[in-house]
Parts: sequence; C-alpha cells; structure tokens
Amino acid sequence: EAHSTLSITVVGASGDLAKKKIFPALFALYYEDWLPENFVIFGYARTKLTDEELRNMISRTLTCRIDKRANCEDKMEQFLKRCFYHSGEYSSEEHFAELDSKLKEKEAGKRSNRLFYLSIPPNIFVDVVRCASRKASSANGWTRVIVEKPFGRDSESSAELTRCLKKYLTEEQIFRIDHYLGKELVENLSVLRFSNLVFEPLWSRNYIRNVQFIFSEDFGTEGRGGYFDNYGIIRDIMQNHLLQILALFAMETPVSLDAEDIRNEKVKVLRSMKPLELEDVIIGQYKGHNKGGRTYPGYIDDSTVPSNSITPTFAAAALFINNARWDGVPFLMKAGKALHRKRAEIRVQFRHVPGNLYKRNFGTDLDKATNELVLRVQPDEAIYLKINNKVPGLGMRLDRSDLNLLYRARYPSEIPDAYERLLLDAIAGERRLFIRSDELDAAWSLFTPLLKELEAKKIAPELYPYGSRGPVGAHYLAAKYNVRWGDLGGDDD
Ligand code: BG6
Repeated sequence: EAHSTLSITVVGASGDLAKKKIFPALFALYYEDWLPENFVIFGYARTKLTDEELRNMISRTLTCRIDKRANCEDKMEQFLKRCFYHSGEYSSEEHFAELDSKLKEKEAGKRSNRLFYLSIPPNIFVDVVRCASRKASSANGWTRVIVEKPFGRDSESSAELTRCLKKYLTEEQIFRIDHYLGKELVENLSVLRFSNLVFEPLWSRNYIRNVQFIFSEDFGTEGRGGYFDNYGIIRDIMQNHLLQILALFAMETPVSLDAEDIRNEKVKVLRSMKPLELEDVIIGQYKGHNKGGRTYPGYIDDSTVPSNSITPTFAAAALFINNARWDGVPFLMKAGKALHRKRAEIRVQFRHVPGNLYKRNFGTDLDKATNELVLRVQPDEAIYLKINNKVPGLGMRLDRSDLNLLYRARYPSEIPDAYERLLLDAIAGERRLFIRSDELDAAWSLFTPLLKELEAKKIAPELYPYGSRGPVGAHYLAAKYNVRWGDLGGDDD
C-alpha cells in the first residue's frame, strides 16, 4: 500500500546469521519484488558503524540468483540505499528510543508496520524485547518480533523465557522461527500427502514399517563451540528441526490450511508421543582424525569447548507415537556433525509385500525388496521412490530402481532460501510455519526428562572419527527395532 511503510530492524546486525542469511534473504525478496513499496531496513548492534559501513559489510554477502543476473548490480545499489544502521546497547531503552526517532523520520508520517528480527544470543532476548516494545513499537500499525532458537534449554527455562517475552508481547506478535519449516521440501510434505491419492492411504502403521529423519553435516562446530557446548546436538537439531518435520509427517489431516488448524494437528502429534527414554537414545562425539595427509580436529580441540566436554555432537533416537495411526511404528532420528557428508532427508520404509510371488528373486534378504520413499531436503532436493523392477531381458532378474523427481532437472530455477519464505510470511502475518508456544512446550516435554538424565548420569558419548559415518551404537539402536538405516545403503543410497 502507498500509505503504509514497513520497517525491518535486524537486531544483532553484525552477527553471523544476519550476514549469512537475513540480509541476503531480504535482498532476494526485494530483488523479486516481494517487499512492499515503502520499506526501510535498520541494522542494530553495539558496534559503532556508519550507514555506509553497514552497507559495505552486507554488500559482500548479497548474491543474485543465477537465472536473474540482469541488472543485479543496480538492484543491489537501490537496496543498500534503504539500509541504515543504529548503534546501541541491547538493554538501553534510551537507545531504542533513538532508533524509534530514526524510524519515524523514515516512515514520514505514514502508517508504519515494524518487524524486529532478533539475531542475538538468548541471554539478551528479553532485554531487547522490553526495550523495543516499550520504546520502538509502531504507534499505528503492527509490531512483530522474530526470534530464533535456543528457546531455553529445557521445559522450565523455555517456559520462563515465554513468560518474560509475554510481559511485553502478545503471542500474536511473537514469530518463533524454525528455519527447517521454510525449506522447500518440508513445506511440500503437506502437498505430497494431502493432494495426491497415492500416498495418504499408505500413511499409517498398516503399510509403513518405520520412518527415519536424518540430518548430517560434514563439518564440526568450527568456532561455534561456545554456543554449541551448552546445548548439544539433541537441542540444536532434534528437539526442533527434526521433531517439527516429524510432526508434519505424522499429523492427521488438518481442518484447513489455516495456521491454527495446522498447528493444532502438530501439537496433537507431539502430545501423543511416548516420553523418550535413555535406552532409546545413543549419543556420540567426534574425535580428531587424520585422513589423506590432513588432520581433522576433534570436538574438544575447538578452543571454545572445555577439554572434558561430554556434549553430544551426534545422537540417534527411536521415538513412538501412541495413536491409532502410528502405534508401534519406530520413528528414528539421527543427527550429527563432522560426518562423512552433508545431507538432510526423510526416509519412509514400507512393509514387505505379503505373499510376495517374487520372493525367491530376492534371496534371503527381503529387506532389500521393500519400497522406500525418500524426501531429500538438501542438498540436491529430490523425492524418489524405490521400487522393484524387472531387469529388461529374457531372464527374470529383479532390480531395485528409483522413480525419481530430481528438483534441479524438473524445476530449473533456484530454490529460495528458507529465510526468504519465513521473512515473507512474517511480513504477511502468516503463522503457519512458526512455532506456537504450546508446540514448543510439547516439544520440550518430550525431550527434557531425557536431557536431564543424560546430564545427571554424565553419560559419555561414543567417540567417532571426524568425517566418518558416526558411532556404531546407531546401528544397534536401529537393529533393536528391526530397522536398517536407509542412508547407509551405498550407491549414494
Ligand atoms: C541450525 C543449527 O539451527 O541449523 C546449526 O544451530 C546447523 O548447528 C544449522 O548447522 C543447519 O541448517 P542448514 O539450513 O544449513 O541445514
């Protein structure tokens, strides 16, 4: 609208996330004409910078999509002209009041909507929210705040954080990001399930043997050890990213696509889950390793990590949903850093074909004949279904083949970054992909007793070499439920 303005303030503007993700995402939205006509972007941080210095800093991280190089430079310049900087303390109402005056000046009397992106450490969330809401809220439009995890480190600290935030903001103003929900294939899960006939009828214990959510990275904590050591991989990846995907995967059909309807179904899944127990979890930590003349550091070699740390950098867990649809089906999760490759995927292993006529063609290993649906979230997005097929020719040999939807072959334009989708939704007031506070509570209830037990008993992680496939404990855990990890099948799986 011509009569309103949008002001986006990135608090913690000189931090890593802001530089790597938020500014580039804002630029991409601008470039593709998704931002309203009147907008300004403010960076806020303690460092003293001029507008020009901020522009220089962020200009280095902006990129144009490969297929749209034309006039990119111009667009960048125009974008940077809309970026400003204000330096201030995170707990100073006075400094936020100064920001408010600068915002007002840019808004020039128009109706103003204000979005604050908190790209800062959790210990200052509440201070910033207090100052921003008291001194820099919009007087005549909406004010929204995007927050990133960690949302506490267990049920109690998370509830405390929510309580403090709600002193200054309503639930409607809080947008809790889980950036995995903004990934293309995660968003597509609902489309796949609810707008195709062929999947949903199979989506239950009747046909599905197990489901696997796998996250692996081929690098370690590299400099982020200070943050990471206080959280560990279970809090960093499982309790949020993987659990969110699980909820979308397993939920019942929502009444509609409205945010509340979807989140109601997700929370039902989370609340139906069996509490996690120690015996259903294994943890690991990477150790230093020499390979091909290179030395890869162990987790505790990171100078920001205490040398006796037992924080897990790898974990595998078996979870269960106690409802009619999923009773008895293992939902396995696996997440790790410093593994042999970078990958995030969902794997659905189906049951054996009853009375399979071709049984003898598979030898003794019927598992090799089960259908498997794989959603590769990243890299190289794909959806493929493993099917049994006759090898062409006069004999009768069967072979496992893929029905393969490879995104880069089918959809040539580059896939937007998750942050673009989420920022756009926050601006539009669309809450579907953000975490509601009861979802957050349910997610913590599931993991908190386990996390406390791991810490109280000081369970030592199984060490695995940097760049390996992770600790063997993960195999035993899966084997206990008669499952084989689908990502370790070879042939690039
Ligand atoms: C973050 C975690 O939430 O997600 C990081 O804190 C992790 O440890 C990152 O590296 C992975 O995100 P992506 O989008 O790179 O897969």
